[in-house]
Formats: sequence, structure tokens, C-alpha cells
Amino acid sequence: MIESLPFALLVCDARTLTIVEHNAAASAFFGEVLASSRPLRSLVGHGASDFFPDFAETLEPLQRRAVETRETCCADELRVPSPGGERFVAVTVQPMGVDEAVMYLMVSLLEVTQKVAGRERQQYLQRMESVGTLAGGLAHDVNNMLFAIVGHAYLLRARNEMTPEALGELDQIDAAITRARALTAKLLTFARGGCPERGPVQVNETVMETLRLLSGSLGTNVILDVSLDPDLPLILADSGGLQQILMNFCVNARDAMEGRGRLWIRTAQEGSSVLLEVRDSGPGIPETVRSRIFEPFFTTKRGQGTGLGLSVVYGLVKNYGGSVTADNARGGGARFTVRLPALQD
Ligand SMILES: Nc1ncnc2c1ncn2[C@@H]1O[C@H](COP(=O)(O)OP(=O)(O)OP(=O)(O)O)[C@@H](O)[C@H]1O
Ligand SMILES: [Mg+2]
Repeated sequence: MIESLPFALLVCDARTLTIVEHNAAASAFFGEVLASSRPLRSLVGHGASDFFPDFAETLEPLQRRAVETRETCCADELRVPSPGGERFVAVTVQPMGVDEAVMYLMVSLLEVTQKVAGRERQQYLQRMESVGTLAGGLAHDVNNMLFAIVGHAYLLRARNEMTPEALGELDQIDAAITRARALTAKLLTFARGGCPERGPVQVNETVMETLRLLSGSLGTNVILDVSLDPDLPLILADSGGLQQILMNFCVNARDAMEGRGRLWIRTAQEGSSVLLEVRDSGPGIPETVRSRIFEPFFTTKRGQGTGLGLSVVYGLVKNYGGSVTADNARGGGARFTVRLPALQD
């Protein structure tokens, strides 16, 4: 009977919590979860802790509670760490017994990874949206103040009594204003997506042009591996923005690889999207860092970076109606994938 159930079901001994029976859906699920660590024969005779120590840490208290209270216990989203990315299950533990004694526990597991991922994506987009509103407002106000500073500095410069020393100080003020304006411009690009004027853009051409510009700053120890789809459709964007996107990826990759390694750049058509992928042979992005890299001012390069590079990328891609994701490639390095809507002809 339990064999035909569409969700994973385990029957566990109430005292030892070892599995006495399970259906095919359970071995399929746990087999998938464990796929890249070790093959799964049978679950019978084992406790969850034999296979999944981390998962058992949350499952076993639920099982014990069901034994003690003799009531059905549930958890909506238990985390199941897996080498292919974490997964989530809704768990119900139902005690079964004769008279007062609980002898077995029926544990049903329903995978809810998709639901959790969808919700997290939604929350992420909302967070980025509110950070965008905040950043845009801030940049706008700071710009207004900068204009006032620029104006007064200009008036000061025009005064007769300015000594060469005083003019030197004014040069310092001007230089600082230029840096501050570059910073607010980046914040505005994140908040509003940059240049509003868009036209048809040849992605491959822009990629080659950008790589020519970059050749000096990447150095000779970064080997480029470029693979461009010759039949790529056009996109609606501005080539300056697209250039900024690619530059930020390449410079970040160079930093991650400490100036030495391989950089793969690929364009391709994928359905009605144009795909631009940049992958490097660096150490990759740690999981804890990955969820924050597109936020303005998030940087792990203390004192060296502003943390605005990828937020600019995010703003531009969003403005082009596309999407950008970051993950680590099989070889370990970071991989950034941009998908932009192809222009229909
Ligand atoms: N290719 C990569 N490999 C590993 N980590 C990366 C890579 N690209 C970005 N990161 C991480 O993402 C963070 C944010 O990147 P972002 O470009 O926004 O800022 P930054 O490079 O630190 O500063 P700035 O762009 O102003 O120089 C980096 O500090 C780094 O931790
Ligand atoms: Mg950067």
C-alpha cells in the first residue's frame, strides 16, 4: 500500500528511530539528495543520522516529540542539505501503536524546495527594490548637495585674493567632487538602470570592443576563451551599458583570480533570449556571500572596492528587461549569466 503513495514515506521504530520500511519514493528522494556523495542501497536498518546527520538534527526531535505526546507532529520546511544545493521537505510524523505504547512512527516527506525557492526569490526581489528606492533617493539628495559645493567652489576660484596654495586646495575639492559624482552616478544606475536611450545593439560586437578596451587592465596572465554565437539576434539596450556589465564581470574575475587564470566568455541564443555568460577559474563565490553580491556597497575587498560594480550590473540588466544570476561552475570558478530579451524582427 505504501508503495503506491506519491510522497516519500518511512516507517521507523519508535524506540531506536531506525527505518523498518520505506517506499520507492523515499529511496528515490534520498538517492537524489545523496547522489554525488555515495550510492544508496536500502534505508532499512538505518536511522536518518546514518545518511543525513544535518537533517537528522531537525527530524529526530520531531520524532521524539511524537513518541512522547503520542500526537502527530508536523514541520513545514525542514532543510535537507544536499551536495546539489539544499532542499526542503514538509514532514509529518504520525505515531502508531498498540494500546498506550507507541511502536512505530510513520514519517511522510513532501518536497517543497520549489515553493521555498520561489518565495526566497520573491523576497530577494522585494529587498532589491526597496534598496533601489533608498539608493536612488540618497544619490539624488547627495547630487543636489554636490551641485551646491561645485557652485561655491567655482565662485571661490574666481576671487582675486586666491593664493596659489588656496587654488591648490580647491583642486583637491574638485577631485573629491569628481569621485563623489562617479559614486552617485553608479548608485543611480543601480536604482534606475542607467541610460534611458536604448536602441538595437549587436552583443558580439560590443563584447569584442569591450575586450579590446579591457586587454590592458586584465594583463597577460588572464587567458581569454571567447565563444560567440554568430547568429545572435539584436537586443534593445545601449552599448555603453552592456560594456559596463561585461567590464564589471571581467574586472571582478581578474580580482578573484588575483590576475592569473582563465576567463570564458560566451554568447548564445536561448529561446527568445540572448545569453551572455562570463566564467572564471578563480575560487568561486562562497554561499554566504552569493546572496548579497548584487546589493550596493556589498564588497569583500576591504578598502579596495566600493561594492557598486555588481549593483550597477543589476540595475542595467533589470532596465533591459533581463535577468542576471551568479553561481559557481563545476570547475569551481564563479559564473555570471545574463539573459536579455532578443529584439523581434
Ligand atoms: N568572479 C568572482 N569570483 C568571486 N567573487 C566575486 C566575483 N565577482 C564578484 N565577487 C564578489 O562579489 C562582491 C561584490 O562585487 P562588486 O563588483 O559589486 O564590488 P567589488 O568588486 O567588491 O567593488 P568594486 O566593483 O567597486 O571594485 C566582491 O567583493 C566579491 O566578493
Ligand atoms: Mg567589482
